[in-house]
Amino acid sequence: MEPLRVCIIGTGSISDMHFKSFANNPDATLYGVFDYSAERAEAKAEQYGISHVYRHIEEVYSDPNVDAVSICTWNNSHAEISVGALNAGKHVLVEKPLAMNVEEALKVEAAVRNSGKTLQVGFVRRFATNTKVLKSFVDNGALGDIYYAKASCLRRLGNPGGWFADKDRSGGGPLIDLGVHVIDVCWYLMGRPKVKSISGNVYSKLGNRGNVENLNFYKAADYHKDRNTVEDLANALITFENGASLLVDVSYTLHAKQDEIGVKLYGTKGGAELEPELAIVSEENNTILNIHPQIDHLSFDFANAFQNQIDSFVSSCITGTNPAAPVEDGVEMMKILAGIYEAADKKCEVTFA
Ligand SMILES: NC(=O)c1ccc[n+]([C@@H]2O[C@H](COP(=O)([O-])OP(=O)(O)OC[C@H]3O[C@@H](n4cnc5c(N)ncnc54)[C@H](O)[C@@H]3O)[C@@H](O)[C@H]2O)c1
Repeated sequence: MEPLRVCIIGTGSISDMHFKSFANNPDATLYGVFDYSAERAEAKAEQYGISHVYRHIEEVYSDPNVDAVSICTWNNSHAEISVGALNAGKHVLVEKPLAMNVEEALKVEAAVRNSGKTLQVGFVRRFATNTKVLKSFVDNGALGDIYYAKASCLRRLGNPGGWFADKDRSGGGPLIDLGVHVIDVCWYLMGRPKVKSISGNVYSKLGNRGNVENLNFYKAADYHKDRNTVEDLANALITFENGASLLVDVSYTLHAKQDEIGVKLYGTKGGAELEPELAIVSEENNTILNIHPQIDHLSFDFANAFQNQIDSFVSSCITGTNPAAPVEDGVEMMKILAGIYEAADKKCEVTFA
């Protein structure tokens, strides 16, 4: 069997996780790279021993030796490149979010249907070991019916700046960047229920706090402390047709004592904390039990989750099986994110048809 020949598009910060994970997969070969910045693309090609550096996206599409692309560009090009690659007969792994808005996301979905190619959305938290273990408990009925979930990802100081802070290129701030991950993993574990209504708020109160000293945080390569057009906090209540609800809050900055990540689910038979550390709560012999699984990664482990995500994508491309994070889930997540922004903008609950 010939290995899947992959071209990485966008060679910035997250691309290293893609390069390393494809390099570790025996059924894939790193074949090409493309970035607006030829210098950055060439540096990655040299680092990972990749033979082809493309000068234009059209060269990627027209090269019959490229079987699949991994899209690690700014959010504003995810949909366009996905559609271009699918129409050229390539499989696609696209970083989250699938698109900037619902209209774009639906165009990608149509291109997947028309091309018959595999497209997987970068919902990497689905592939983390702690998520996979919890999913097996949920599927076995350990939690019963999940009727409430809480998703939180709060940074006290962590607006990465650059394109992340530019709404025209990112589509938004912590909601579309961090919220997408924690909302998706809750929704996935809840059994992907249909949304009934959403209420939400976004706040732009603190800016990017470029004035703060003596506290480091991740910055985009083109960070500039004067530039910021995205929200710094978002919260939402999502209610589903089955009566379940999901409460979310995410921030790039907040006067919080410390950063916080929490993903928690509550059901009729048991509960679970996925983050900050996997634990399952149950009741037996009239006694409440906290169960702590003995596994390697009780919390989200970046390298492990990325490897699982890319192994799963490669396998779907080769075998033709449905990807574990399919385009329709990317579309649904886009509807939820857009719904939260809309509810916040209109200052009222929005309902889904
Ligand atoms: N899954 C995760 O946990 C995770 C983590 C970080 C970032 N991301 C996602 O990965 C993507 C990239 O983020 P990043 O942190 O690597 O950003 P980055 O700014 O470090 O890198 C982006 C790169 O893409 C290039 N680029 C942008 N648009 C392009 C286009 N149309 N054609 C060619 N090159 C283009 C830029 O020149 C840059 O080199 C984003 O969509 C982000 O949401 C995902």
